[in-house]
Amino acid sequence: MRTRFLIGNWKMNKTATEAGAFVRRLTQELPTSEGIQVGFAPPFTALHAAHEALGSSPDFLLGAQDVYWEDKGAFTGEVSGTMLKDLGCQFVLVGHSERRQYFGEQDSWTNQKVLAALRNGIQPVLCVGETLHDRDTNQTDHVIQRQVRAGLAGIEGQHLESMVIAYEPVWAIGTGRAASPEQAVPVHRLIRQTINELSGAEAGSRVRILYGGSVTPHNIAEFLASEEIDGALVGGACLDPVSFATLAKVAIGSKPTTA
Ligand code: 13P
Repeated sequence: MRTRFLIGNWKMNKTATEAGAFVRRLTQELPTSEGIQVGFAPPFTALHAAHEALGSSPDFLLGAQDVYWEDKGAFTGEVSGTMLKDLGCQFVLVGHSERRQYFGEQDSWTNQKVLAALRNGIQPVLCVGETLHDRDTNQTDHVIQRQVRAGLAGIEGQHLESMVIAYEPVWAIGTGRAASPEQAVPVHRLIRQTINELSGAEAGSRVRILYGGSVTPHNIAEFLASEEIDGALVGGACLDPVSFATLAKVAIGSKPTTA
């Protein structure tokens, strides 16, 4: 049984001061995560404040939204896995579609970033997803397989098992137009099959695959009803602590009913 994982991606929202207030309110609303993992990824500038506000709470995981692949050096503006680890980060998003779309992130970069995270003892969350054009031109499977294979190149065994993949169709992000479970589930199956081909069904069965794209407290249960969907990566609906706590409570209470 894979432990479910709910992640809030704050994107470029909240100051360090606001992050502290968010964490204090969230931990009031949701004192314990009861059998699922709940994490959130503030901007780099708010990581320290969020970590301080969390204190020693084991119930919430702190993550970053990106990482550079070198551990230190002359790379102006970048932040390394070593630095993130030191700030208390336990996971990091890699290859989010906004990085690919606005900052030219390539598949080969995502692979180097995944490797850098693993080297620093941080769990990578590799984000993949097709554009509307890809879907309309029947390229979804090809694009997803390419992103998964490239992002995971050279990663094996325990490292591969510890990976989290987030399937986020680009057309569903921030649009209020979530994929239906009927659209998402086949892609989740394809991702697991691709991982099985890379390293065998044993490792593949351990990798968690999350859905992201316009997830709200109203639709999360529909996704978690499928055994194929191991959690959610949430943008807009994670910014309010009450809304995020509600999402987590629904996730804690929902059991998969379909394969
Ligand atoms: P929304 O939930 O706002 O659609 O964002 C999804 C996302 O990009 C999470 O990484």
